[in-house]
Amino acid sequence: MPNTILVGAQWGDEGKGKVIDVLTAQSDVIVRFQGGSNAGHTVIADGKKYVLHLIPSGILHAGKQCVIGNGVVMDPFDLITEIGILRAEGIEIDGRLLISDRTHMVMRWHRALDAADEARRCEKTKIGTTGRGIGPAYGAKMGRTGLRVGDMLSPHFLDAVRGQSDAANEILASWGAPVLDVDEMVKVYRQAAETLKPYIADTVAYINEADRKGKSILLEGAQGTMLDIDFGTYPFVTSSNPTSGGACTGSGLSPRRIDRVVGVIKCYTTRVGSGPFPTELKDETGEHLRQKGGEFGATTGRPRRCGWFDAVVGRYSAMVNGVDFWAMTKLDVLDEQPVIKICTAYLRDDGVRYESFPADTSVLDRCVPVYEEMPGWMQPTSKITRYEDLPLKARVYVERLVELIGGRLGILSVGPARETTLRTGL
Ligand code: IMP
Repeated sequence: MPNTILVGAQWGDEGKGKVIDVLTAQSDVIVRFQGGSNAGHTVIADGKKYVLHLIPSGILHAGKQCVIGNGVVMDPFDLITEIGILRAEGIEIDGRLLISDRTHMVMRWHRALDAADEARRCEKTKIGTTGRGIGPAYGAKMGRTGLRVGDMLSPHFLDAVRGQSDAANEILASWGAPVLDVDEMVKVYRQAAETLKPYIADTVAYINEADRKGKSILLEGAQGTMLDIDFGTYPFVTSSNPTSGGACTGSGLSPRRIDRVVGVIKCYTTRVGSGPFPTELKDETGEHLRQKGGEFGATTGRPRRCGWFDAVVGRYSAMVNGVDFWAMTKLDVLDEQPVIKICTAYLRDDGVRYESFPADTSVLDRCVPVYEEMPGWMQPTSKITRYEDLPLKARVYVERLVELIGGRLGILSVGPARETTLRTGL
């Protein structure tokens, strides 16, 4: 069975949870490779809705092994809460969940610094983060002061907690933000370390051993390509690499062991937080997509910004990730649109045309999207279970998207239920 990387191709929230759920059935080991509890994967299993932030949704499938990889930044308290919720639902965790000893931790002071940093920025420079401490945790990792999961096993861990919370308090105080109670930090992290010890492992060795034994590994990304720290709309991005390259650095599985890359892409576009969004619709069509698509953040509940499909983004994502197959989601959200637009390029006010996504996103302020229009199918699709049964105009739309962005269609999703995941090649 193949080893698969699954990535989001837009600004996150592409419906990865549902696609992961389908691909999990073909996998033995599911590895989350980046991000933290800024992500929120919504999965409906056996009629119950689960929103998971850190633990791969493979945990909902009996017998599957789940790994939180080294590329993740893990908040111990969020993880403990998530373990508790799953246990209360009768889901077996012990022996099935491993956390890499190399995974960096999001500490309470990272959250406090994230909130305080956003609060002191002006409207124009606010990133609109999820407030989960992601930027400061990855900052500490790159600055070589981070605390890793394996450090919880060290007798010096609590000294480090004391030292680092003291240092963070100095910054917080200088920004006029509330400071943390250092003794309380030591107390709660002592307990957290005790609770999480049984799950800590050398997951790099584990994943590679599983690969050698012929197990099928699914490397699941959070967020999306346009939020990538290198390839996204910098600085309005997250602090990790949600693109396919991040799957290898975030898990320890070699690029040579990857068989295929699946890109998850919505049939329109959304984004949460600040930053450029060329095809954004600030009118009633955008509002319709938001309501019909339930476009509200799984982590923060914030309304998502909505707009037409952007093939410039799709092509760029196909290139950066090396997408073999697309999983296209939420086609049914477009069922009531008489005319559907697709952005094929950006046109600058001086006539320069952008077919590829520019690094300097400030040029987008001077650009308008170049649209082509397609007739809508104006029929419900959310009960259809075979690709051939879709209205002709819906198939023409999907096939045009694939033609514009390259690659092959593997999955098309037309509704939240498992049966509405139409398989066309995966
Ligand atoms: P952070 O990752 O919390 O630092 O937030 C940085 C940017 O990424 C903000 O615009 C967030 O809204 C966005 N972001 C982070 N996680 C997600 C996600 O799972 N879905 C969509 N946007 C996200």
